Amino acid sequence: MSTQSSPDRPPKITTQTIVDMKKGGQKISMLTAYDFTMAHIVDQAGIDVILVGDSASNVMAGYETTVPMTLDHMIYHASCVVRGVETALVIADLPFMSYQVTSKEALISAGRMMKEAGVHGVKLEGGKPIIKTITKIVDAGIPVMGHLGLTPQSIYKFGTYKVRATGDEEAQQLLEDARHLEEAGCFSIVLEKIPAELAQKVTAELSIPTIGIGAGSECDGQVLVTHDMLGLNKEFKPRFLRRYADMHSGMTDAVQSYIQDVKSGDFPNAQEQYG
Ligand code: KIV
Repeated sequence: MSTQSSPDRPPKITTQTIVDMKKGGQKISMLTAYDFTMAHIVDQAGIDVILVGDSASNVMAGYETTVPMTLDHMIYHASCVVRGVETALVIADLPFMSYQVTSKEALISAGRMMKEAGVHGVKLEGGKPIIKTITKIVDAGIPVMGHLGLTPQSIYKFGTYKVRATGDEEAQQLLEDARHLEEAGCFSIVLEKIPAELAQKVTAELSIPTIGIGAGSECDGQVLVTHDMLGLNKEFKPRFLRRYADMHSGMTDAVQSYIQDVKSGDFPNAQEQYG
């Protein structure tokens, strides 16, 4: 993907665009994608940022957590997404255990993600303990998006997907972690499932944008998992999720109509076959 835009296309979104959007008081829209077709639709619809989330583990692979995702899996998904995108900024998650062991290994993982998949930046979960690692990645020229609050890669440490940082101590820690992430050079931070008031405080303190999921309206941007907001699954119904379509029903109806037409001999008709 080149960094140049042709005259008839909207300018490509960069990490600087995202930072400038905060400065200009413009909200940032972000959605997930894991494959070419979805990425193409979301990009053409005008999204600012596409996240190749390790939620691919749940959504694409059917695992219960994001833990099993490997760097090779994520590079595959990210490369499919990049091929479908013209304008949006594409950020990919570094998966569990691809950046926690040493900062050298983290840099190699981030470098592979950028060189092999062609993404514009990587996202890492965590605060103070990974600051040195983030600095190393940023210093190498790879933009980093932070991720605080509910960090699904640590599910076995916390044991639940409940709202995080509801107590004073954890809230203070999160605020400090956010400051550290900004100092380390992150261009943006995802805030997942924390009280809206805390997200507002973090957003007001930082000059880099916050992107919320279950973190209230005062974040600089919002992110949802595309499959959830399209209503492709019926079961996942957290309070923060707004469904913009009921594609589970729409797709089920379409598949059932097809089955019926095949069984009845109605499909294919004369126009749908070759002479
Ligand atoms: O993996 C993912 O999709 C994410 C978003 C929910 C922020 O990290």
